[in-house]
Parts: sequence; structure tokens; C-alpha cells
Amino acid sequence: MEEILKMRNLKAYYFTREGVIRAVDNVSLSISRGELLGLVGESGSGKSSLGLSIVRLIPPPGRIVDGEIIFRKMDLLKLPEKELRNIRGKHIGMIFQDPLTSLDPLRKIGDQLIETIIVHTRVNKEEAKEIALRALERVGIAPDRFDDYPHQLSGGMRQRVMIAMATMLNPDLLIADEPTTALDVIVQSRIMDLLSDLKRSMKMAILLITHDLALVIERSDRVAVMYAGELCEVGSSEKVSQEPLHPYTQLLLESIPNVEKPRTKLIYIPGSPPDMMNPPAGCRFWPRCPKVMNMCKSIPPRPLELDGRMVRCHLYNGGLESGG
Ligand SMILES: Nc1ncnc2c1ncn2[C@@H]1O[C@H](COP(=O)(O)OP(=O)(O)OP(=O)(O)O)[C@@H](O)[C@H]1O
Ligand code: SF4
Ligand SMILES: [Mg+2]
Repeated sequence: MEEILKMRNLKAYYFTREGVIRAVDNVSLSISRGELLGLVGESGSGKSSLGLSIVRLIPPPGRIVDGEIIFRKMDLLKLPEKELRNIRGKHIGMIFQDPLTSLDPLRKIGDQLIETIIVHTRVNKEEAKEIALRALERVGIAPDRFDDYPHQLSGGMRQRVMIAMATMLNPDLLIADEPTTALDVIVQSRIMDLLSDLKRSMKMAILLITHDLALVIERSDRVAVMYAGELCEVGSSEKVSQEPLHPYTQLLLESIPNVEKPRTKLIYIPGSPPDMMNPPAGCRFWPRCPKVMNMCKSIPPRPLELDGRMVRCHLYNGGLESGG
């Protein structure tokens, strides 16, 4: 499958008064057309910062300090802001965790959709309305909701409107940051069906950001596990779930509750997540790792290619070094 997005050695740091937070540190990752890639990790591991970096929307004091983001053969880090603005919302759809980027509570949803379409395309208002209605229909929202205000819709419907907005111009890539976290399990499942359908029918590449590993294993083709700003394992959902290589992935999988029981909202691993301003020397996971060795405390493990996936851990030093 054609690679639609390729990040290489991406670094995005927050330069706060207290110190530098290396939220995204040397991340290399790619997504192909028609692929759903799940990015998982504990709160604060840098998932949203990575998603925001892709479209250069990381807020100050954050800044992308190094790396490359190739999207459809363009280096997004080198594009003028004006061109990037056209890519956002048209070629890359975004559903962000930040409520400020969500719907305007004071305007009808139909008008908001029409406006976005007109900003990005040359169609007139009538044509824009048709596109908007089709997009709403695709996410299961009836046309008579067109003139509703956001508060007239349920949480699940609002989220579907957000998905309609993010996908109505048929983007090549959709970045969905915790799109279902606030929703109940049934609505969550419906939204995920919708994303899977978009992936299949439109060959959309989807980056699904979540702390819900169970959801990712169930729904995505590949999984990328993030810890303290770094990727520690990337591989097919099947391989990662059946035989996780990285000790952190192993613990995450063990922490998934029984399928019959409701999912816990937060991943719980003994020990505390690292101080992102002063992460541990060596492997960032070592203070919590049940398999820690002496070398782990001083030598940072490099990404290795093993069994068709990437793993960053000294336990596998026999593997080949990987670019990600
Ligand atoms: N605007 C900001 N200014 C300073 N630091 C920030 C800012 N946004 C995020 N950070 C820091 O960057 C690190 C990564 O945060 P990020 O929000 O990317 O994590 P996350 O994995 O998305 O977490 P969550 O699961 O809670 O959404 C954290 O240490 C966080 O405190
Ligand atoms: S490098 Fe060492 S501390 Fe880090 S995950 Fe592997 S075994 Fe654990
Ligand atoms: Mg986040």
C-alpha cells in the first residue's frame, strides 16, 4: 500500500519557563492509504503533541525542533503556512481532543459545514450544502438536523458531525484524537464502525489516538505504542497483541480488563509516568520495567527491526537497527 504519511526523527518540544518537555522525541512512523493506525500510551506520553505536530498546530511554547513529515511527497515542515492551511481540513482531516477546536456553539451545524467547504473548494453555497448533507447522511445524521445548533444534538451526534466535518472533503488522512473517549460503549462502537467504513470505502488513512489499547487492538491494522515521547513498539495489531515484545506493551496488555467487563478508562501500570522534563537516563521506562538490566539505566535503547516490527528495548539487541 502507498505510504501517505511518513515521519522521520520528528522532535517537538515545549520550551516552558521551568524547562524543556520533550513531548515528541525522535519519532519515526508511517501510515499507508487505507490503513488504520492506533497510537496508544498513557496520559502525557505525547500522543496529542504528535498528532498536532503533523499539521504544525503544536501550540506555543511548543515547537517542532527537528525531523521530517512527508505527506503525499510534500515536506509539511517546509511548506508555507498558506499552503498548509489548505492541506488542513481538505487533505488532512482532524478531530482533536481540544474542545476549542470543536463546533461553534452559537452557529447552526449546517452553516459551519458549508463554511468549511467554501473555504477549501471553489463550489457555490448550494453545491456546498449538497456536499454537507451527503457528509451528514454518511455519518447517519438526518437532513432535518441541518439547522440544529450543537447543543440540540447528543454527544454521540455531535461527534458524528465532527467526523462529517473532518471527512466531507475526502481527505487522504484523518487524525482522530480520542474521538470516542467521552461516549458510552454503544455509541463508541458505532463511531468506530463509521471510521472503519471510511477507511475501507474511501481508502482513507486514519491515525487513531487513544489510551484505550483494547480498542486499538480490536480496530486497527497496526499499533504504535508511545512512552514518554518515544515510540517503544510498532507492529501489526495481531503480532503486538499476541506476542508483545516491549515490556511496556506487555504490561499494557495485561492491564486490559476481561472483555466481558467494561473497559477501564485509564491504563494503569505500577509506578508513575516519568517526569517529562527530566526523563530517566538510559531507557525511559527502566524505573517501571520488570525486566530492567544494568545497561538499561544508562544506555538509551535504539529502535530495532524485529519480526517485521519496531521495538526499542535492550532485550532484543540481536535485531537490526531500524529507522522506524
Ligand atoms: N501547551 C503545552 N505547554 C506545555 N507543555 C505541554 C503542553 N501541551 C502538552 N504539554 C506536555 O507535553 C507532554 C505530552 O502531552 P500530550 O498532551 O501530547 O500527551 P497525551 O499523550 O496526548 O496525553 P493525554 O492522554 O492526557 O491526552 C506532557 O508532559 C504535557 O504536560
Ligand atoms: S531497555 Fe531495559 S528497561 Fe527498557 S524496556 Fe527494555 S528491558 Fe526494560
Ligand atoms: Mg492527548
